[in-house]
Amino acid sequence: MPVQRSLFGRPVPRLAPKRIAALLGAIALFGVFTLVFTLPSSIPTGPSLGKFTDHRISLPKLPKQLPSPSILNPFRQAAHAPPVQQNSTSGEASWYSNWNWLSPFSSSVTLDENRSLLPPLPVRPPIYTYYDHTLAKDKDLKFAENALLLTWRKAWWAQGFKPVILSPAEAMLNPLYVELQRLELEAALKIELSRFLAWENMGGGLLCNYLLLPMGSHEDSLLSYLRRGEYPMLSRFEKLGNGLFAGAKADIATAIKLALENPELKASKDLVGAVPPLTFGVDPDHEALAFYNAETLNEKYPNVAGDIAATGANGLMILNQLMNAHLHSTWQNEFSTGIAVLKPVPQHMSASVEPALHLAEFLAQCPESPMPASCPPNKPRCKPCVASTPMKITTPPMYRNTSTLYTIGTVPHPYTFASLDGYRDDINVSWIRRVSERDPWLSGMTKELLGTGVSGAPRVIKFKEAVASQYGLGHSLWVTAEMPLPTDLDWYFGFVIPRNATDTGKSETPVPGPERRPQIEPDPHNGPVPSEGDILKEKILLEKAKQFGLSKSPEHNRLRGAVEAWNLADTEAWRFARAFLARASVERLKWEEEEKQYAGGAGSEKGKSQGWGRWFDD
Ligand SMILES: *[C@@H]1O[C@H](CO)[C@@H](O)[C@H](O)[C@H]1NC(C)=O
Ligand SMILES: *[C@@H]1O[C@H](CO)[C@@H](O)[C@H](O)[C@H]1NC(C)=O
Ligand SMILES: *[C@@H]1O[C@H](CO)[C@@H](O)[C@H](O)[C@H]1NC(C)=O
Ligand SMILES: *[C@@H]1O[C@H](CO)[C@@H](O)[C@H](O)[C@H]1NC(C)=O
Ligand SMILES: *[C@@H]1O[C@H](CO)[C@@H](O)[C@H](O)[C@H]1NC(C)=O
Repeated sequence: MPVQRSLFGRPVPRLAPKRIAALLGAIALFGVFTLVFTLPSSIPTGPSLGKFTDHRISLPKLPKQLPSPSILNPFRQAAHAPPVQQNSTSGEASWYSNWNWLSPFSSSVTLDENRSLLPPLPVRPPIYTYYDHTLAKDKDLKFAENALLLTWRKAWWAQGFKPVILSPAEAMLNPLYVELQRLELEAALKIELSRFLAWENMGGGLLCNYLLLPMGSHEDSLLSYLRRGEYPMLSRFEKLGNGLFAGAKADIATAIKLALENPELKASKDLVGAVPPLTFGVDPDHEALAFYNAETLNEKYPNVAGDIAATGANGLMILNQLMNAHLHSTWQNEFSTGIAVLKPVPQHMSASVEPALHLAEFLAQCPESPMPASCPPNKPRCKPCVASTPMKITTPPMYRNTSTLYTIGTVPHPYTFASLDGYRDDINVSWIRRVSERDPWLSGMTKELLGTGVSGAPRVIKFKEAVASQYGLGHSLWVTAEMPLPTDLDWYFGFVIPRNATDTGKSETPVPGPERRPQIEPDPHNGPVPSEGDILKEKILLEKAKQFGLSKSPEHNRLRGAVEAWNLADTEAWRFARAFLARASVERLKWEEEEKQYAGGAGSEKGKSQGWGRWFDD
């Protein structure tokens, strides 16, 4: 007889071996599921707050250095940090460009809390123009042409292209150059053909006259197509003459050969006239291209055409001003809703957004123009800037994704934010833990997009999209509250931003009187208006926070670590904005460095004082 087992004096029902197996199986399955679903492998957690607390609250002790947020995962494999990419640091900021840039916390990929994960740098297709810097010319004329080239480079750079100035040096490298020299042709036609030789030698792409500028939104279909950098056939644009060509190397070579073999070449004006009509495809749609050739000037801007005829170099400077004004007013027309200077949790944030607000005021000003009421040649029905109804500037507390609204965001470091919002400079760890909220800046900024009951990670992702997506790039600028505005914002916008010229000791643009300064809209969303005393105190707090950011003392490092750990999402946003801006500036400087050795350095900013930072601290 089998033994009767008992538990607490009661008999335990006997189970058949089959049932026991089923029971054990169920328990095992449950165990495995529990293990799998509770492992924190994919949950980004930050460094522990434990090491910062004042030991009254004991948190579980974690190792001091947490190389990866997923360190709690026992199956985690030891991983190497991704390799350091070229030119990927600037000052304190460093970054790693990769396709998975939209993961909420960069350190889970870069394994370094200070290295931000950025989207890959979009490839800028080269756009070439031809300028013969070797011709003997008047100094004034060279200066004026340099100004035009600079305007051309800025405008195309801002639209995501890599403007390159070609010179006879590139044309001479083409084997067909010798053949061209043998022919007896007019000088103008020879130059025109040299352009194509230089272009073919560079491998094709886009060939542009430097009087042709992009004037349209970042998302314009033609500009997007050109940005893709692949041109299936040799094409030109209807009514734009020799303004812009697109094509691949082989097609260009064919066209040049056809032209050089044409016995009638001598009689034609340019290459297009010397080849069979079907060599070039003709694109009729080019709303985003503005061409300021002599024909257009005579027809639409007779004053400027007259100036050029009468005074040469001086007239070209006037033309340059007109082109710049048109670029600026095109931008203003595109953002008809106005400029939003973000100010989340607005109570004490006036000092921190002040530079951004100044910039917005400059952008909203009417550009100085020789023909203020004129429209760009490609947009005859534009809305010229009128001083009496300037662009609207608002300071909303949250980000709005409106396509006609330009956003300037100022991201404060969590310490800066805590100090300003707490309105005190004696912040300590227990104040942070007990009084301050988590991620206040990002929560405020994304409140309208995501509502209130959402954690930091999705907010960070939205923020990153707003900053760094192709769409975000054309609709917003993000800076940090601690650093001065970048000095090269003209390149970001593609035109010379009107600025107070007296500060830089030059008189490019006259200082507008107060009646021409745009007014900040009274708007319930704009938040409280601070008193003079408040502004002063905010400025002092901001200055102290900046100093704190530079401090290396262990005490300050500890406090900074605590603030950053408490505000993981805000910190991530701040680092991201800092790295993104730094990368843009490194990209441009690198390109500038490469380009300045060619074409005799034509089109560069010579001896220009760069003083955005100095602008604002009066
Ligand atoms: C990140 O930067 C801070 C401040 O510069 C520094 O104290 C810290 O050691 C850095 N962390 C790493 C992992 O390099
Ligand atoms: C932190 O600040 C709070 C508020 O000012 C103060 O009451 C507290 O004593 C401070 N704690 C320490 C450790 O200094
Ligand atoms: C904003 O809107 C555009 C188009 O409507 C969209 O492509 C983009 O992802 C949106 N950005 C954010 C941050 O929601
Ligand atoms: C330009 O600078 C002058 C003197 O520095 C100052 O008085 C004026 O307010 C400034 N104008 C603008 C628009 O900032
Ligand atoms: C980029 O990196 C190269 C080599 O590492 C260096 O010489 C150059 O100065 C860097 N450029 C910038 C703009 O940092």
